[in-house]
Amino acid sequence: MNVLVIGSGGREHALAWKIAQSDKVSKVFVAPGNAGTEIEPKVENINLTQQEDLIQFCQQKPIDLTVVGPEAPLAEGIVDAFRKAQLKIFGPTQFAAQLESSKDFAKQFMQKYHIPTAHYQTFSNIEAAKDYVLQKGAPIVIKADGLAAGKGVVVAMSIEEANQAIEDMLLDNKLGDAGAKVVIEDFLEGVEASFIVMVDGEHILPMATSQDHKRLLDQDQGPNTGGMGAYSPALVVTESTFHKAMKQIIEPTVRGMQKEGHPFTGFLYAGLMIDSNGDPYTVEFNCRFGDPETQPIMSRLETDIVDLLEAACDGRLDKSIIGWDSRTAVGVVLAAENYPQSPKKGDVIQGLEKANQIAKVFHAGTALKDGKIVTNGGRVLCVVGLGNGIEEAKQKAYAAIKEIHFDGMQYRTDIADKAVVA
Ligand code: AMP
Ligand code: GLY
Repeated sequence: MNVLVIGSGGREHALAWKIAQSDKVSKVFVAPGNAGTEIEPKVENINLTQQEDLIQFCQQKPIDLTVVGPEAPLAEGIVDAFRKAQLKIFGPTQFAAQLESSKDFAKQFMQKYHIPTAHYQTFSNIEAAKDYVLQKGAPIVIKADGLAAGKGVVVAMSIEEANQAIEDMLLDNKLGDAGAKVVIEDFLEGVEASFIVMVDGEHILPMATSQDHKRLLDQDQGPNTGGMGAYSPALVVTESTFHKAMKQIIEPTVRGMQKEGHPFTGFLYAGLMIDSNGDPYTVEFNCRFGDPETQPIMSRLETDIVDLLEAACDGRLDKSIIGWDSRTAVGVVLAAENYPQSPKKGDVIQGLEKANQIAKVFHAGTALKDGKIVTNGGRVLCVVGLGNGIEEAKQKAYAAIKEIHFDGMQYRTDIADKAVVA
């Protein structure tokens, strides 16, 4: 069969790489992909991004199954359009994708179904928003309602900072329509983890646990990013926390979406804040797999992912069994100079072959130019080491990184250290 993966990041490289390992698959197409998916065996890039073009491509090829990586096409309704054209696709409908594309929708939904999350209120009026902040005090969290590519959340440590964020979003329109409404919510303390499951509308199949590192610099300093590294499994998600997350967050979400008449299909990602009692709270929902969480998680998946994706599309995930490599996977992101503000592009990347002999190098912002692999985005690569325990996995990832060079390359040196502390 032929499979299409939509997207161009590290997550999509990892998904395409895993899908290509299935004996059932003759070819994986990635739209538009990156240099890593271009050179991966059995994988081919196609330079298409528009819904109608992708549908036409799938009908002509034909493509038997499509998987969507990023949130934007999901929020634009790609799943609805594919289904209308009778094409098999794994992802949520536009309505269901609102769990990610509208923070206000997600918060109202969580309130309705008693899903643990921070208290909140939504505002479109600046003065009312500022009054609320004054009444609540700092720290407090200001979130743009819509999709803002990771730039829509300000964890304000002072009232002034909160007011500035409110003005940026509501007055200066810095985030465009995404910031036309703001959600203001209580600050939650604890440890974060990524809780990702597959859902077929009714049944739930949990992925291995993982933890992301959102800040740019070591020891969680610097600005928030899309994620600078992740590892799996995340020991902070103990068995008891895992069961609480399933019972209190994931199951009510899936049942709730069914009740709303819009069953959720796709990868569902709950960003958890786990308090000192091991109780999980929902920081956010994503309606897709995480990036970079996908890279270490796919590195540990032993089951044929195509079997799982097909079962999910056919509503029979309850019959699926999933197997994980017991080793730990640590993925470290190599980012371009000036990421996340204005990443530099076009620098030649060296040492990839040697690095790939030590660990798996997933590409994100890369392109092929005159036969050379060059940087082409903020997060450039994600290097995943597998090992018996965190130390060995980490050591492999960083040993591979030593072989890689491009101008301005930056990365964190403490990925997975949180696991040792936890
Ligand atoms: P989000 O895009 O909603 O995941 O927010 C980005 C990051 O902001 C999260 O990963 C957290 O580190 C932080 N954050 C968001 N909401 C809260 C909250 N209510 N309390 C504390 N930190 C938060
Ligand atoms: N790693 C965070 C995300 O995918 O949203």
